[in-house]
Amino acid sequence: MEEINDYLCKYKGYVFAVGMTTAEHIDSLQSFEIRERDVFLVTYPKSGTIWAQNIIALIFELDDTDETIYENNLEKMPWLEYPEGHSDYVSRPSPRLFASHLTPALMPRGLKGKKAKIVYVARNPKDNVVSYFHFCHAWTSLETPKSFEEFLQQYLAGNVGGSSWFDHIREWHTHRDEYSILFLTYEDMVMDLRSAVVKISQFLGRDLSEAMLTHIIEKATFKNMKKDPKANYEFLPEDLLQKGKFLRKGIIGDWKNSFTVAQNEMFDQHNIIRKTQYPSPVMNIR
Ligand code: A3P
Repeated sequence: MEEINDYLCKYKGYVFAVGMTTAEHIDSLQSFEIRERDVFLVTYPKSGTIWAQNIIALIFELDDTDETIYENNLEKMPWLEYPEGHSDYVSRPSPRLFASHLTPALMPRGLKGKKAKIVYVARNPKDNVVSYFHFCHAWTSLETPKSFEEFLQQYLAGNVGGSSWFDHIREWHTHRDEYSILFLTYEDMVMDLRSAVVKISQFLGRDLSEAMLTHIIEKATFKNMKKDPKANYEFLPEDLLQKGKFLRKGIIGDWKNSFTVAQNEMFDQHNIIRKTQYPSPVMNIR
């Protein structure tokens, strides 16, 4: 791993937070054996990952046996790229559930066979950067930005964990035909949670009863998830994450409270240069 600073390092063009993974582990993922019933949730950080993770975990709740009941969603649907404490990736019973922030080039090659399913959740980058800025104050191993302006510049340059939002979404979208993938947006989920849950469950080949659907929607609301110790990530040690900070506001448009007019213009300009207007037919986010 090439060190960028005390907090970030780069491997194969992708920026990781220091200490979260190793080059060997990332390389080993290339030959990670994919099973037909595997499910991967892929997001750029701060796009609603733990929300979609909770929804997918709930969709598979009825299948749970003693072997697949985990203490929390991180155990049930661990991050593919952060192996610590999860030596059982290979031996887990199907359906295995994984989360990831990686780009296509770093994902298991076997995923291209369209055997397994990928749910990709994207979020408006303006809200995304605001969420990320606040998260940097909560996640102790990330550098605390001196100002929003400074963080915004780093974000636009792709000098944050997860690299560039623009590259992430473009790469996944460009390679979409190689995978069995469902694109969803955070905004879809906020505006119509029921439809989003139906879309995800149908894509994953799960027929949900009306009662189950109602149960999942109830459990996945911002208010209820914030109270749910399996889903809200308050189980993480306080020296890693200040309590409750994964679920902060959970709304669309919070960027308007943080961006200046000049920052908004700069962002829009960057977006035009990168040709990734969001959401738009250019990205064709379904
Ligand atoms: P905000 O910081 O804008 O509130 P990730 O899980 O990828 O880190 O994303 C975190 C973002 O998703 C946070 O956004 C968090 O509040 C939001 N989020 C998590 N659960 C949610 C839910 N049930 N409803 C709405 N937003 C949720």
